Amino acid sequence: MADADSRSGLRYTTPELLEWLAALHAPHDAALAHAFDAPSAHGMPAIQLGPSEGKALELLLRLAGARNVVEVGTLAGYSAIRAARALPADGHVHTVEFDPKHARVARENIAAAGLADKITVHEGSGLDVLPRLVRFGPFDAVFIDADKGNYDGYGRWAAENTRPGGLLVGDNAFFFGRLLEDSPEAAAMRRFHEEACEHFDTVCLPTPDGMLLGVRR
Ligand SMILES: C[S@@+](CC[C@H](N)C(=O)[O-])C[C@H]1O[C@@H](n2cnc3c(N)ncnc32)[C@H](O)[C@@H]1O
Repeated sequence: MADADSRSGLRYTTPELLEWLAALHAPHDAALAHAFDAPSAHGMPAIQLGPSEGKALELLLRLAGARNVVEVGTLAGYSAIRAARALPADGHVHTVEFDPKHARVARENIAAAGLADKITVHEGSGLDVLPRLVRFGPFDAVFIDADKGNYDGYGRWAAENTRPGGLLVGDNAFFFGRLLEDSPEAAAMRRFHEEACEHFDTVCLPTPDGMLLGVRR
């Protein structure tokens, strides 16, 4: 159930409640903990998915029967490791990262997690690298978690390269609460939402910063 307050955005969460739930439902083993802690340990921005969103991504990919996945925005590899663990033995995650240091740290974490054969970190900007990934498609799922001003371009690529029934996941779909602002980045994020609706059956889940989910028509 929901009530008028929660429907209009009120959250019944506290930091303690969120921590208790994540520890119960989305616990970290050593490899996940290492990848999750890596941004802080390496002086990188700690902007990886939260444990609960990471586990949600893992479960969604498993539900979708995903085998062949693209991620835009690797950081230290936390979500790529979550994604790869949802795939069958012959599954693969192609993840795209613009920052060479992030890509290096991610490759280390992915190797430490025993997933070097299952995840390829493609170095370069999303809009340059994605066209080179077309030959590996069509894809079962595309997860977008990089620069917000290019979400519309990433979403268009996903629509063209996701199989019917495949999954689109876009994090930060609220654009940090600035989705309705008058800025080029907010406009790009609104186009991402609008164009996703044209090609996918969609919903925007009210996770901390919104997560767009779509199933390709
Ligand atoms: C939010 S973080 C990704 C977090 C990661 N998905 C996780 O949950 O573990 C965004 C990443 O996108 C990268 N990035 C920013 N602009 C990019 C671009 N144009 N192309 C590819 N990656 C980009 C950043 O360097 C950063 O590592």
